[in-house]
Amino acid sequence: MRLSAYFLPVLKENPSEAQIVSHRLMLRAGMVRQSAAGIYSWLPLGLRVLRNIERVVREEQDRAGAQEILMPTIQAADLWRESGRYDDYGKEMLRIKDRHDRDILFGPTAEEVVTDIFRNNVKSYRDLPKNLYNIQWKFRDEVRPRFGVMRGREFLMKDAYSFDIDKASARRSYNRMFVAYLRTFARLGLQAVPMAADTGPIGGDLSHEFIILADTGESAVFCHRDLIERDVLADSVDYAGDLQPVVDRWTSLYAATDEKHDAAAFDAIPEDRRIAARGIEVGHIFYFGTKYSAKMGAQVAGPGGESVTVEMGSYGIGVSRLAGAIIEASHDDAGIIWPDSVAPFKVGLINLKSGDADCDRVCAELYGKLNTAGVETLYDDRDERAGAKFATMDLIGLPWQLTVGPRGAKAGTVELKHRRTGEKHELSADAALAKVAG
Ligand SMILES: Nc1ncnc2c1ncn2[C@@H]1O[C@H](COP(=O)(O)OP(=O)(O)O)[C@@H](O)[C@H]1O
Ligand SMILES: [Mg+2]
Repeated sequence: MRLSAYFLPVLKENPSEAQIVSHRLMLRAGMVRQSAAGIYSWLPLGLRVLRNIERVVREEQDRAGAQEILMPTIQAADLWRESGRYDDYGKEMLRIKDRHDRDILFGPTAEEVVTDIFRNNVKSYRDLPKNLYNIQWKFRDEVRPRFGVMRGREFLMKDAYSFDIDKASARRSYNRMFVAYLRTFARLGLQAVPMAADTGPIGGDLSHEFIILADTGESAVFCHRDLIERDVLADSVDYAGDLQPVVDRWTSLYAATDEKHDAAAFDAIPEDRRIAARGIEVGHIFYFGTKYSAKMGAQVAGPGGESVTVEMGSYGIGVSRLAGAIIEASHDDAGIIWPDSVAPFKVGLINLKSGDADCDRVCAELYGKLNTAGVETLYDDRDERAGAKFATMDLIGLPWQLTVGPRGAKAGTVELKHRRTGEKHELSADAALAKVAG
């Protein structure tokens, strides 16, 4: 993509409405624009990031055996009356009337819709287990939408729902999502810690919030330092095998948000291993048994023909929140530093002197070769000061910057800078290509 043609409304000044760094940088880098309180449009650069996050989430859900569907944003109030939640949900639910004066709503979550799909289509224990997910916009009329996409009113969520014949099988489904979440966040460049979460009237220990540590996080969290030092992706996972040992390895070390905090257990951790910090919830998994299936009549025939109410769990990831959370975890004074997995482009190609015959020629060649090699490249071909070009590239945080100046263009060299480390090398165009394409 040529920057001269790209829709990238970069802001030079810090927008006054942004209180936290990710919100500031998302506005400055032209990723999003607010349309109404807590409601955002995603501009080209931001949308590329959002799509990349979705892709990683999707790949790990699929790998863990979940199957993607797409449920509507608009739901019938009658389904929610069956579960008893239509009245309980309160003001966070956006309630709408259609032209026939029927109550409908913009879904804040989808337990009712997915349970309805299940009960109408699955009749036998032989069809279990099943895990269905979708990546769809949700609306919650939050009292205090803030921090940009971190706490929006409209936001993109991946929500998965598991259906099992009994509790033991439901735990296996839970474990698969637990491990899939660890892998998902690790691939997004985040160290997410599963923390014991409230299970409410359901009870038990099968609810975890996945939290990344950040000063701007909304919750106070406490955990053992070992949990943020693990290399999740080092181990291969067998989703057909027993994942309980993996889950136990994580849950045996102390980790809790302030709601579930146990000061005595925390104090038992050696002092140099204790972390008391703030955190951002990026995912939440929850086993809730027959809470919805019982009320909504989601039953299947068991092995002996008896009717069995299915055991369910739900598993959410804040896809749009992650765009902000990744920036909170990865930036410097100059701007965003994208992990490779979600970077909107892999390479920023900077022509230091557009209009200079040598610079234009070398850049055109490089840009052509990068495109041929399938390396996503943003080519700054604008007639701008060098300083402004560098500042823009640093701000938008692409992993590699490839700079072509008049002197190098004559000598056949380019400068390659790695955004994260700041390391710069002068090398031949071909060597630079090999490096970024590899
Ligand atoms: N208002 C919001 N804006 C952006 N993301 C949200 C919002 N509410 C929830 N999420 C994301 O969706 C995930 C699943 O939601 P859930 O656990 O039901 O929400 P909550 O913890 O707010 O009740 C959360 O872990 C979070 O990452
Ligand atoms: Mg939650």
